[in-house]
Amino acid sequence: MTRPLSPSVHEAAMPPIITNEIDYWDHYAHGVTDKPREEALKHAFGWTQYEGHGPGDELLGDPLSALELGCGRGNAVAALALKGVEATGVDLSAAQCEEARQRWGDIPGARYLHAEVLGLLATTDQRWDAIYSIWGALWFTDPKRLLPLIRKRLSPGGRLVFSHAPAVPGSYGIQGMYGNGFKGRRVWIYRWAYEPATWADLLYRHGFVDIHARVEPAPEREHVGTLIVTAQAGR
Ligand SMILES: C[S@@+](CC[C@H](N)C(=O)[O-])C[C@H]1O[C@@H](n2cnc3c(N)ncnc32)[C@H](O)[C@@H]1O
Repeated sequence: MTRPLSPSVHEAAMPPIITNEIDYWDHYAHGVTDKPREEALKHAFGWTQYEGHGPGDELLGDPLSALELGCGRGNAVAALALKGVEATGVDLSAAQCEEARQRWGDIPGARYLHAEVLGLLATTDQRWDAIYSIWGALWFTDPKRLLPLIRKRLSPGGRLVFSHAPAVPGSYGIQGMYGNGFKGRRVWIYRWAYEPATWADLLYRHGFVDIHARVEPAPEREHVGTLIVTAQAGR
C-alpha cells in the first residue's frame, strides 16, 4: 500500500487551479520576483525585455497625466509619478494591484486601479495625456475594440505608446495559447500580433496620426527584438 502524502507535501504537489484569464494573471503575479525598491526604480521604465536597453519614457512626450494598461507590479507608474506625472496603472489581476499598492502606494501621484481595460475605458470620463502599455493589456486585447476607446480617452494630441514581442513571421492576428501547460486545467489567453505596417494602418484607421511602428533590435544580433509603436490622437 502506498503511504498517503502528508497534507503539506500533498498541497505542494497540487497543480495550480487555473480556470480563466483572471486566475491566469493572478497565478502569473505570484511568479514575479521583486527587486529591492531602489534597484527596481533604476530600470523601472523600459519598453524592451532587455534591462537598460532601448528608449525610455521620453517616448511619452511630456505628459501631465498617464495611464498604463496592464501595469503589473506598477514599477513604471511609480517611476513616472516620481517625476511629477499623475500616473495611474490599471490591471485585472487583484494580486498585481495589491502588490503595486503595497510597494509604491506611498508615492504621491501613483494610483493603481483593479479593472479590466475595456471596462475601465468604456465607463470613465477621464482623459489622459499619455496612455501606454509595456508588454501589457494592449497585447492581450482585441485592438479593434480597444483602440477606439483609447482614442476617446486621450487628450487632444495625446500619445499612445506600446511595446511587446514582434509577430512571429507569417503568424498574424489573434493568437491563442494555453496558459496552464498542456496537461493542466484548460485555460487559454489571446494575444494579437501584427507587423509594424499593419499596426500603423490599424492606428490610422482609428484616428491616430504621427504613427511610428518599428522593431527595436535586440542587444545581440539574431535575438528577439521588441515591437515599439508610438502614435498621437488626431485633433
Ligand atoms: C506580461 S504582464 C506585464 C506587466 C507590466 N507592464 C510589466 O512590464 O512588468 C501583463 C499584465 O497585463 C495584465 N492584463 C492582461 N490583460 C488585461 C486586461 N484585459 N485588462 C487589464 N490588465 C490586463 C496582466 O494582469 C499582467 O499584469
